[in-house]
Amino acid sequence: MADKHVEWQDARVSGRTEIAEGIVRLDFEPVTPTPAKPGEHIDIAVTLPDGRHDTRSYSISGAAPDGSYLSISVARPATSRGGSLFMHTLRTGDTVRITHPLQDFPLRIGASSYVLVAGGVGITAIRGMASTLKRIGADYVLHYIGNSRARMAYLDSLEAEHGDRLRAHVTTEHGRLQVADLVASAPADAEMYMCGPIRLMEAIKRVWDASDRDKTSLRFETFGNSGWFAPEVFQVEVPRLGVTVEVQPGESMLEALERTGVEMMYDCRRGECGLCEVYIEGLSGRVDHRDVFYSERQKAPNAKMCCCVSRVIASDDGAPAKVTIDVT
Ligand code: FES
Repeated sequence: MADKHVEWQDARVSGRTEIAEGIVRLDFEPVTPTPAKPGEHIDIAVTLPDGRHDTRSYSISGAAPDGSYLSISVARPATSRGGSLFMHTLRTGDTVRITHPLQDFPLRIGASSYVLVAGGVGITAIRGMASTLKRIGADYVLHYIGNSRARMAYLDSLEAEHGDRLRAHVTTEHGRLQVADLVASAPADAEMYMCGPIRLMEAIKRVWDASDRDKTSLRFETFGNSGWFAPEVFQVEVPRLGVTVEVQPGESMLEALERTGVEMMYDCRRGECGLCEVYIEGLSGRVDHRDVFYSERQKAPNAKMCCCVSRVIASDDGAPAKVTIDVT
């Protein structure tokens, strides 16, 4: 297990507002306020539907300059593993346990130009960056992608704040986003910061990596773990440890292994760092790779997977989904 020094504290829910279809903004007043920087997030202790306790990470979408309140915005996806469901039950006056602001997605000041890309509720991680870039007079463009205006949080205020620097790609109005065009429109020396569904970010990363752009100029934050397939029950066997466990649709493979007492390595728990990597020794079905750690070439042979987000689904022949693995 990774050992991050994280301080936890009580925070009162001081506001709850429906800001778009299926998205609520929650305001917290932490006991020990800490100013938040662009790209930072907080971890929150959540109770899952089966009574288990866990943590979830949410980008800070707004904050008082002194940190006396912090806001997050939470979508309620159909395939929520329970954290978002819990967040949607919170009401003004409730008390939760949260961390101080944590930074995994820093905005580097000093680039010649910036391209910000937000998909859906990923706007929460990007919004503060856009405000900072505007404030310092940087050259930037903000692409905001969503299915419909009704489901795009903060769209009106972003239009007012950023004017023609905001490019809203609304699928119901403009059709599917052409990822290659978006990447091609970025200046050659631009830094790109993106947050959104894994599929969108994978598509952008693929185009970016295939170009001659500097790979370190593409930075991303992944809180969603939406995959290519709906989550299914699947079985995991670890022969070396004599362990077999069923992974339910509402939990990750990492959580299921931990539930059986397997000591697992992890850090981000959202498909970015690769620390939770497991080695695939046998497979019945298909791997739904949901991480952004491996390249397409690394994913193709299905030799390993990031068990914090990736899953297995049954193949069309009807054989039950099962993966046999070894852990580090
Ligand atoms: S814990 Fe980081 S990729 Fe799984």
